[in-house]
Amino acid sequence: MTRLGTGGPWLATTPEQAKHVLMDTAGFDFPTNVARGTDMSASSAESRTGHHVYAPLTPPQVERALAVFDREWGEALATLPITDDSVRFEAMHLLRRPVARATCAAVLEDLDLVTRNEIADLVLAWIDALAPVIASRRAPGRWSRRRRAEHRARLALNERLSAALASHDVRETAPVVATMLAAGIQVPIAAGAWLLVFLAAQPAGSFNADHVVWETLRLAPPTWITARVSTARVEMAEEVVAAGELVMISPLLLGRLPHLAPSDPADLATFCPDRWRRDDIRPGAWLPFGAGPHACPGRNLGLGLLRDLVGWANGQELTLAMPVNIDQSRGILPSPALITCSAPTQ
Ligand code: HEM
Repeated sequence: MTRLGTGGPWLATTPEQAKHVLMDTAGFDFPTNVARGTDMSASSAESRTGHHVYAPLTPPQVERALAVFDREWGEALATLPITDDSVRFEAMHLLRRPVARATCAAVLEDLDLVTRNEIADLVLAWIDALAPVIASRRAPGRWSRRRRAEHRARLALNERLSAALASHDVRETAPVVATMLAAGIQVPIAAGAWLLVFLAAQPAGSFNADHVVWETLRLAPPTWITARVSTARVEMAEEVVAAGELVMISPLLLGRLPHLAPSDPADLATFCPDRWRRDDIRPGAWLPFGAGPHACPGRNLGLGLLRDLVGWANGQELTLAMPVNIDQSRGILPSPALITCSAPTQ
């Protein structure tokens, strides 16, 4: 454990410490909610945040969602104008609808297609309105333009969800389902865009899907950092974390630890799916899906979506149309993720 500056937050520097923080829910809690309250000390032994525990998606849910994704991805590609035998797309943009509809198919399995698609669009609208709230350096005031826009988008989604869920036997409340959908749409869009950007920067070839997926999640885990607040005095790794202190866990930093990824045949800062040919180190020890009771319930869908994208990309000639920057405003996003695809097939 190390402190980031005098009096600053703690950083867990090994996977063991990170797991301890994520799994010891009596000692550590969520600092705040996704809509970003200004109070970072909500978490104390007396006032727990009462965060919902989500059940992992079942294999049939994942299967249904992947079928929707494959169909929607094909349709999204078909909308692109072909110029000189190639198409150009912004990966963050093109992935939006296929991912949103796939995740809605998994989570809202009992709803009809029209309602599900309507809800998918409302979740995308909420994510877009939430982005400037999360990205602002200081939490925006309650009545600021950004907050009001986010509030309106959240309300519209919750109202539509409440109406849709009321006619079905769903136990979860609309805000709980809305959070699941937002988490399950925003993050895989970013992960998918990173994957396509990394592949577009490689010479065309046929890649092992698992190797590409893990290498993408190692170099650019969209949730590159997460945090918890200690609810009591905790002794860890010869350090004392006092109650109410912030502890950061970074899958991105953990993914650069030499013992968590094969450092052959290239250094750990390079995208090299082939490093995973060496199968004596299991991928994922850097926790791209978190750990413990609040680990990602959509892990298998996330992995499936990314594998399917590699399956598609393997048949294509992808190149980067422009150099890519890292947008760190909310998680990490590739920006612009502008890709040219020669002679595309769906
Ligand atoms: C490649 C894709 C994905 C990645 C890398 C990813 C990553 C993560 C990570 C790191 C966390 C834990 C955050 C923390 O502990 O603070 C998380 C939580 C979560 N994820 Fe994912 N996720 C992905 C896809 C999905 C999908 C497809 C869904 C839903 C269908 C989903 C739903 C959630 C939810 C609801 C949580 C909150 C869990 C809780 O707080 O109990 N995620 N995800």
